[in-house]
Amino acid sequence: MSAARPKILLLGATGQVGWELARSLQPLGALRCSTRNEANFSAPADLEAHITQASPDVIVNAAAYTAVDQAEKEPTLAHCVNGEAPGALARAARRSGALLIHYSTDYVFAGTGERAWRSTDSVDPQNVYGHSKLAGERAIADAGGDWLTFRTSWVYAARGRNFVRTMLKLGAERDTLRVVADQIGAPTSARLIADATAQALAIALLERREGQFLSAIHHLCAAGHTSWHGFAQTLFERWTMIAPDQPVALRTLSAIPSTEYPTPARRPLNSRLDCSDFEVRFRLTLPPWQQGLDLVLAELAEAVSAR
Ligand SMILES: NC(=O)c1ccc[n+]([C@@H]2O[C@H](COP(=O)([O-])OP(=O)(O)OC[C@H]3O[C@@H](n4cnc5c(N)ncnc54)[C@H](OP(=O)(O)O)[C@@H]3O)[C@@H](O)[C@H]2O)c1
Repeated sequence: MSAARPKILLLGATGQVGWELARSLQPLGALRCSTRNEANFSAPADLEAHITQASPDVIVNAAAYTAVDQAEKEPTLAHCVNGEAPGALARAARRSGALLIHYSTDYVFAGTGERAWRSTDSVDPQNVYGHSKLAGERAIADAGGDWLTFRTSWVYAARGRNFVRTMLKLGAERDTLRVVADQIGAPTSARLIADATAQALAIALLERREGQFLSAIHHLCAAGHTSWHGFAQTLFERWTMIAPDQPVALRTLSAIPSTEYPTPARRPLNSRLDCSDFEVRFRLTLPPWQQGLDLVLAELAEAVSAR
């Protein structure tokens, strides 16, 4: 591996996390982004061939099948993209001596109890998406080689499909919204994930050079926690301060239990993740979730005022 300027291959650069990684990884090496056309996760064998041809020193995989409810209807595709394809990536990485960075989810856990899940806790996914992501984690570990899997939660950004953008759209149109208040987790901005990944990668490259690297699963999300209802409440409060000119029709934001908002995929109630081993290893203090929210709302406000 070229110590000075490693070749980094980013997959899934059009997604929320991938978009931010395309910025944050720039200073760390020669960055190439492969699109779905070049690297299709629904054809894992072709994917392996693409990696071998690109011969990167580092692969960062932000591509995934993330439609949690739709996955209940498309389990085969979800397992292919989230389970088999990461295994193919990991085998290609091992053969070429590349480091693989991959993302997984809080949905690998059952969601019982109230304490934050540690990266070493037993997993027990409750839906097809969670099972498919767990299959990916295991396929990567089984392939051997050098890898890091970061489990994150409740991802949002100024672009893409996410809770913040959906809430702002609905809040501009409706005077009442009902939002689930018994699922607890840490809303995490894609920007935080990307910035923390860049720092983790810099340290992982050092560890590899010094023969100190250990493949591992870590948890990576913002500090603190809230419910979806608490998240919505905070985002509307801050939005009216950050973008006072923007119309908000919303008058009532009701807190409801998950039982009153049935979805095809069952969601865990407790999605808290303990990130302490990530913070120690990569020498970071993950900021409170509200900080990432303010940055994304400011970006959204900027975008609407520029229209
Ligand atoms: N979103 C969340 O709340 C959440 C929570 C926990 C963990 N995660 C994990 O975090 C990571 C990043 O998620 P995200 O929210 O950034 O995802 P996202 O916005 O949904 O983006 C998904 C990316 O995957 C690509 N992709 C999907 N199917 C593909 C295929 N068959 N072949 C090649 N590329 C494909 C998409 O490409 P196109 O643009 O071509 O569709 C897009 O670039 C994922 O591993 C996800 O499981 C997400």
